[in-house]
Amino acid sequence: MTVIAGRRISPQNLGSAYDRFTVTPYAGALGAVIEGVDLSQDLDDATIAEIRRALIENQVIFFRGQDFTPEQHLAFAKRFGTLNQHDQVKGMEEYPDIIEVRQEPTDTRNFGGAWHGDVTYLPEPPLGSILYAREVPPVGGDTLWSNLYLAYEDLSPGYRAMIDPLTVVHTPALIYGTKSMDWSKDSSMNSSPTEAAHYEVEHPLVRTHPESGRKLFYVSGAYTPHFKDQTEEESAPIIDYLMYQATREPFTCRWRWQKGDVAFWDNRATLHYALNDYHGHLRVMHRVTINGERPAR
Ligand SMILES: [Fe+2]
Repeated sequence: MTVIAGRRISPQNLGSAYDRFTVTPYAGALGAVIEGVDLSQDLDDATIAEIRRALIENQVIFFRGQDFTPEQHLAFAKRFGTLNQHDQVKGMEEYPDIIEVRQEPTDTRNFGGAWHGDVTYLPEPPLGSILYAREVPPVGGDTLWSNLYLAYEDLSPGYRAMIDPLTVVHTPALIYGTKSMDWSKDSSMNSSPTEAAHYEVEHPLVRTHPESGRKLFYVSGAYTPHFKDQTEEESAPIIDYLMYQATREPFTCRWRWQKGDVAFWDNRATLHYALNDYHGHLRVMHRVTINGERPAR
């Protein structure tokens, strides 16, 4: 492992060249801006392979000034895998594979306003999501991402050895279950509390990323309330510490959106957080999510 400007780059990534576009690191911990590619076009396999490599190497990649239709958004996402329909939030009427993350000026709650990975409670959580900014507020509405590799690698060997064997329970119940907020009342999101959200899935706490081969710990805010065979109270000290560790400033980046921006993140190696600081303004994002695989140790 080599450290360059605060970013740990694995040997195979050192000086990795890109033929199809430029890749510029965006922050010390993760993130890169890609320039020179139009995502509305039917891209060739070599370009898609480079985008995928840039995603794995940088965890989140950003494209400025894109102009694509919902059909083109879906077509681009399908180059990376099958698409995920959110089990708790209804997609767009015409495009059920697209979630419109919409905040009207009158909305007070925002969608994604806490550190989390997307739908990590699925048996096969997503590879990643591709978020497209259709309408942005004049100020505010930034999104933060954190690098779970760095968070894990920064732990002491003793702490890593302690957490490595643990299994963590993921569930949508606290966000989408019958005791959660009713999104339909104070936000524009198409979701209501449901009994169907009361299920649990077990994943290894520490997983090996299927493409990078690097290890990380996989906690996901309110989606991970406790460890297997432990109470929430018993689990809290470690889970709270891991959420703190996962989201420490040196492991994060923060994106200020412009209309036409696209962010594509590796949901298996990052958490993210949508800031709720633009009341009185409209913000409309389109999200397409790509299926992943069952996490493995
Ligand atoms: Fe999210």
